[in-house]
Amino acid sequence: MYRLKQVLMKFVYCLILSKKKKDKFKSKYLYVMNPDNKILQILPDGREEVLKHRIKGLQVLFEGKNNVLKIYDEKVKNVKVTFHGDNSTAVVRDNTICSLRSNCFYSIDKTSYTNDVKIWLDDDNAQVKIGKNCAISWDIEFMAADCHTILDEAGNICNMPKPIEIKDHVWIGCGVKICKGVTIAENNIIGMGSVVTKSFSETNCVIAGNPAKIVKHNVNWDVKMIKDYVASYSQKK
Ligand SMILES: CC(C)(COP(=O)(O)OP(=O)(O)OC[C@H]1O[C@@H](n2cnc3c(N)ncnc32)[C@H](O)[C@@H]1OP(=O)(O)O)[C@@H](O)C(=O)NCCC(=O)NCCS
Repeated sequence: MYRLKQVLMKFVYCLILSKKKKDKFKSKYLYVMNPDNKILQILPDGREEVLKHRIKGLQVLFEGKNNVLKIYDEKVKNVKVTFHGDNSTAVVRDNTICSLRSNCFYSIDKTSYTNDVKIWLDDDNAQVKIGKNCAISWDIEFMAADCHTILDEAGNICNMPKPIEIKDHVWIGCGVKICKGVTIAENNIIGMGSVVTKSFSETNCVIAGNPAKIVKHNVNWDVKMIKDYVASYSQKK
């Protein structure tokens, strides 16, 4: 049955003439049969299983070879990943758009959530890593590579991709943009609309503005809404 489905889909693919429509069809239906790339599901016990069927909320386009996409849950929602090159890996959660060139890496821990995030790894060797228990709000962009080249007077390239790392338990407010080379330490909060251009190694701060700076020290945050936090706190007492 699976084999028949494969042949049928390949036949339909051949009938489509426009390149754009072909790519869309490929990303929706043909990824499961691309032998040079893999989609794996990370099971609760940590084992990884190859996915052989189409998943509704997942659009993947493999343009190269040896790429791996990993998901935690088959019920993944609103995920669109494009592998433009070779040898890249993306570990994604819901509501994610991710674009990768060659030897790129993106991962988010299963305990973190994303409302609407775009991960731009649009140069070779670019990386973004998001740790545990992070809250990534909506309209967020991580840009670990600049997409275009900046040269100094001697013709040297001065904007090579640099990895982005978000450590555990960081809350990124809506509309935040994170530039290449940024590491954010644990328990930090990034205020809405901020543009983060450099790393922050101090923990427990509110970081905000453009360019982002520390605006408060010695704070922490909880993922619950205030009323739920208060209720759970009084229950504990
Ligand atoms: C970051 C945030 C949570 C901080 O809240 P807070 O601790 O109550 O901060 P305050 O309002 O006391 O502001 C502290 C200082 O930071 C500044 N500031 C706060 N948020 C800022 C922002 N987004 N950009 C620039 N400056 C900001 C304030 O002007 C103030 O400056 P001052 O000390 O010079 O007066 C809040 O401002 C924010 O951005 N909320 C949006 C959260 C969000 O995106 N939620 C979506 C669901 S995930």
